[in-house]
Amino acid sequence: MAPSLLSRALPSTSRALVRAPPRTVVHQRRHNSDLSAKLNAVAAKARVVKTLPDFSMANKVAVITGAARGLGYEFCRAFVQSGCTSLAIVDLKEDEAEHAGQELIKAACADSEMEPSDYRIVGIGCDVSSELSVQQAFRRVMDTYGRVDSVVASAGIVENYSAFDYPFDRIKRLYDINVHGAFFTAREAARNMIPQGGGSIVLVGSMSANIVNIPQPQTPYNAAKAAVKHMAASLAVEWAKKGVRVNTLSPGYMLTKLTRTILAHDQELKKTWESLTPMGRMGEPEDLAGAIVFLASDASRFMTGSEVRVDGGYCVI
Ligand SMILES: NC(=O)c1ccc[n+]([C@@H]2O[C@H](COP(=O)([O-])OP(=O)(O)OC[C@H]3O[C@@H](n4cnc5c(N)ncnc54)[C@H](O)[C@@H]3O)[C@@H](O)[C@H]2O)c1
Repeated sequence: MAPSLLSRALPSTSRALVRAPPRTVVHQRRHNSDLSAKLNAVAAKARVVKTLPDFSMANKVAVITGAARGLGYEFCRAFVQSGCTSLAIVDLKEDEAEHAGQELIKAACADSEMEPSDYRIVGIGCDVSSELSVQQAFRRVMDTYGRVDSVVASAGIVENYSAFDYPFDRIKRLYDINVHGAFFTAREAARNMIPQGGGSIVLVGSMSANIVNIPQPQTPYNAAKAAVKHMAASLAVEWAKKGVRVNTLSPGYMLTKLTRTILAHDQELKKTWESLTPMGRMGEPEDLAGAIVFLASDASRFMTGSEVRVDGGYCVI
């Protein structure tokens, strides 16, 4: 029935009730749209300024090995996005490390009030399998910044040989980089952190420290990553009372040059890896950003000797 006919058929009090809804509805709609505009404005403000301060990497000097590309580079990006302006990129070739630094600064200054001169990002050539080379790299870090707060040992390699086919010199090289390289990096980091009151060290392990990858054979890699994980726990206990924390970040299958090299020879392998991962996909390097900032920053200040796995659920099935 049309509203005018309805109002004539009802007593005056009921007519008032019948006429009321349109005003209430209009009022309610206006209220909802005001509220949603207000919530949107608050969310926009919160996105810009509200982050738990403990996650900030501002005023921290960070050193990342194996950072000219891959996960190491992504860790640098995550630190810069979290406010870090003093950062050393350590990798085999100094010019590649420097180039990565320039890319980082360019990205950080785009759409931001930051200027390139606000950043002190250096590239340092270093072979982590050489103790001397790592010591020299840390000397340069200390000469440049005078301190070091957060160190990530990400340099590492993988190779797939069956145990019977793996040449010994290559096994030795893998351990020299993945295990001894992590040890030299952690030791030099701690040597410099302890006199200044502490710091955070993150060793990049792998889910391979916990499971045996299939179908590709990689026994020395898996054993090396298990060693890295237990090394982090052991160093954590040695240095716990000296303010130096040591944790492991263990990624699952991530899309970087390291895995792309393996997949280049075997396209089916990617599908196999994805089907073995509960989340059904390989990780993108930026999927590790939150975890690395958590471990490297004061947000994890009561955490040491732990492993954080970021593997799309791989290890739980
Ligand atoms: N990509 C993955 O799926 C995956 C999964 C689990 C763990 N990881 C681990 O993450 C770390 C980084 O892997 P990525 O995928 O970024 O690999 P990547 O090959 O893309 O990058 C590795 C970087 O380390 C550098 N590097 C190699 N040997 C070095 C040495 N002797 N000294 C200094 N730098 C050296 C390389 O030049 C390169 O820039 C490794 O420790 C790897 O084992 C990777």
